[in-house]
Amino acid sequence: MAQKTSRLCLGIESSCDETAAAVVQDGRQILSNVVSTQTAIHQKYGGVVPEVASRQHVAAILPVIDAALADAGVSLDDLDLIAATYGPGLVGSLLVGLTAGKTLALATGLPFVGVNHVEGHIYANFLVHDQAAPPAVCLTVSGGHTALVHVVDYGVYRVLGRTQDDAAGEAFDKIARVLGLPYPGGPQIEKLARTGNPQAYALPRGLIDEPNYHFSFSGMKTAALNAMNSARQQGTPVSGPDFAASVQEAIVDALVTKTVRAVDETGVGCLLLSGGVAANRRLQERLGEAMEQRGVDFFFPPPALCVDNAAMIASAGYFRWRQGEMSSLDLNAVPGLRLN
Ligand code: KG4
Ligand code: ZN
Repeated sequence: MAQKTSRLCLGIESSCDETAAAVVQDGRQILSNVVSTQTAIHQKYGGVVPEVASRQHVAAILPVIDAALADAGVSLDDLDLIAATYGPGLVGSLLVGLTAGKTLALATGLPFVGVNHVEGHIYANFLVHDQAAPPAVCLTVSGGHTALVHVVDYGVYRVLGRTQDDAAGEAFDKIARVLGLPYPGGPQIEKLARTGNPQAYALPRGLIDEPNYHFSFSGMKTAALNAMNSARQQGTPVSGPDFAASVQEAIVDALVTKTVRAVDETGVGCLLLSGGVAANRRLQERLGEAMEQRGVDFFFPPPALCVDNAAMIASAGYFRWRQGEMSSLDLNAVPGLRLN
């Protein structure tokens, strides 16, 4: 019999409010990528409700895995490996996908690899851009994380900075709620900001002058909410587009300043952007301009791989397995898992 040369990994992701499964060949080729999102369910609460999320994951996980196998045209027997997210995230959510992954590994005898969700976001770039490679700096910005990471090599990370309070996506979502916009607020603020003046409201850029790579968005959020409330109390009309543009510019300014500094100080030739907020055009534009001036390559994933998905988990898990790593089946969910 001819020796099998390609390897198939089933990836599973359930760290927040997306139940996802994907089959990826050799860490780079997506054969299927199924995402069942709970956004519509959480929308009426203005954010993710953890208990509701875990119950939805329980209902969705097996149909989503079945769909990923069917879309890829494979069965469990064709797989070589199973990878699932084990942190960071909501513990009740993480446990559903992780338990499904470990149980399938136990039943099939396949190797199992637990994956860090933030590492998965970095791999979303390696999945689709052949020229994206370490050494690189990666800015991962989503509803749950804001991390600036020096990707020294595949699997070797140095976290340069992270948010000290709210994640960038969380800041977008919370301010959007006050504007009466539906969850998730990031895309709504971006849309409204298109016709607005980003200088209309002066908002603080937390930690921007500090000699570190950390972020802080809570001061900006409070200032934005105060500006909105005092305008309402005084009966001054608030321009939605101007307000949205000012908020977006404040968040983007803080992200771009620290990221560009990290690229300059590490001397890398490649910048990666990942996570849900990576879909923001203003952020893409500002980083793109700065990298062009420096002759640094700049990559971000297509929208379907910016948001939470399991293809990125399968890819990261595959490369860890190729390096000889395997996780024990008693691996537990780690809600506060760090990258290094
Ligand atoms: O990565 P993701 O799907 O889930 C988490 O791990 O959090 O990211 C979702 C976050 C939400 O906060 C959402 O508002 C934000 O990404 N987001 C955006 C945009 N698209 C999604 N923020 C700003 N601009 C966008 N275009
Ligand atoms: Zn994420």
